[in-house]
Amino acid sequence: MDPSHQLSAEYTSIAEAYAKHWASVIGPMAQPVLGRMALANVARILDLGSGTGVLIPALQAAAPNAWLVGADRAEGMLQIARRTSDLACVVTDAQHLAFGSQAFDAALLAFVLFHVPDPSAALREVHRVLRPGGVAGTVTWGGDPGVPGLPIWKEELDRFGAAPDPRDASVMQHDRMDTPDKLAALLQHAGLACEAAWSEEVEYRWTADALFTVQTRCGVASRRLPGLAEPERAACRQRVRERLATLGGEGLVYRPTVVYAVARRPH
Ligand SMILES: C[S@@+](CC[C@H](N)C(=O)[O-])C[C@H]1O[C@@H](n2cnc3c(N)ncnc32)[C@H](O)[C@@H]1O
Repeated sequence: MDPSHQLSAEYTSIAEAYAKHWASVIGPMAQPVLGRMALANVARILDLGSGTGVLIPALQAAAPNAWLVGADRAEGMLQIARRTSDLACVVTDAQHLAFGSQAFDAALLAFVLFHVPDPSAALREVHRVLRPGGVAGTVTWGGDPGVPGLPIWKEELDRFGAAPDPRDASVMQHDRMDTPDKLAALLQHAGLACEAAWSEEVEYRWTADALFTVQTRCGVASRRLPGLAEPERAACRQRVRERLATLGGEGLVYRPTVVYAVARRPH
């Protein structure tokens, strides 16, 4: 199956869990880019890879009069965005956007660019759908140690003989955009003039229960666990749950680096 199609099916299947257990973790991590996009007087905004729409309230606050459009490949993610906001939603691939040229004044790409097999093609599409002078903001992971407890999951999943992560490498291209310099180069290559690119270390404090829940529903463990037959699957979950419960304090702090960039389509 085409890796992007497979990824969209995956996001559709986890959409409810994403909205409940993950969106509130990464939503605030994306927000610093909005302050640098100067959105106050913008009329038409594209939230590309909008997912369940976690950034819609922040976009509405930054651009109170704007018309917002959410675009995503995963219908299931957009269903939640539709249910929870009045966002106009369009199922479309970032590499072939279903919008006319110069249709938007601003575009946000929060935690999506690394999922696109050809990120340069997506940024060329962003350039095309922005009016001259329009602004794009991107958010990607810098150094991401992974949520706490990931080494425990890896150890136990390997020990019980779970197959590797079924996700294709072409939809996990974090290393092509994990520094401000790499992001700036990608944006310039697509004809967008990079105005700012920077990184910030952010922090989220988990509880062991919340961590176990998110990892069994959304993350790499949730993709590897189905590869185990019972009773190994239950035993693996139980073993990880016990080990996560011993983490406590600093062991439950998630501190990834996030890379932000703001660029403009030249006049
Ligand atoms: C990590 S989520 C981020 C969602 C949202 N921006 C947020 O911050 O919560 C990535 C989103 O990108 C979407 N996506 C992945 N590849 C895509 C593509 N090629 N075109 C459009 N959307 C894509 C996924 O379906 C998913 O909703």
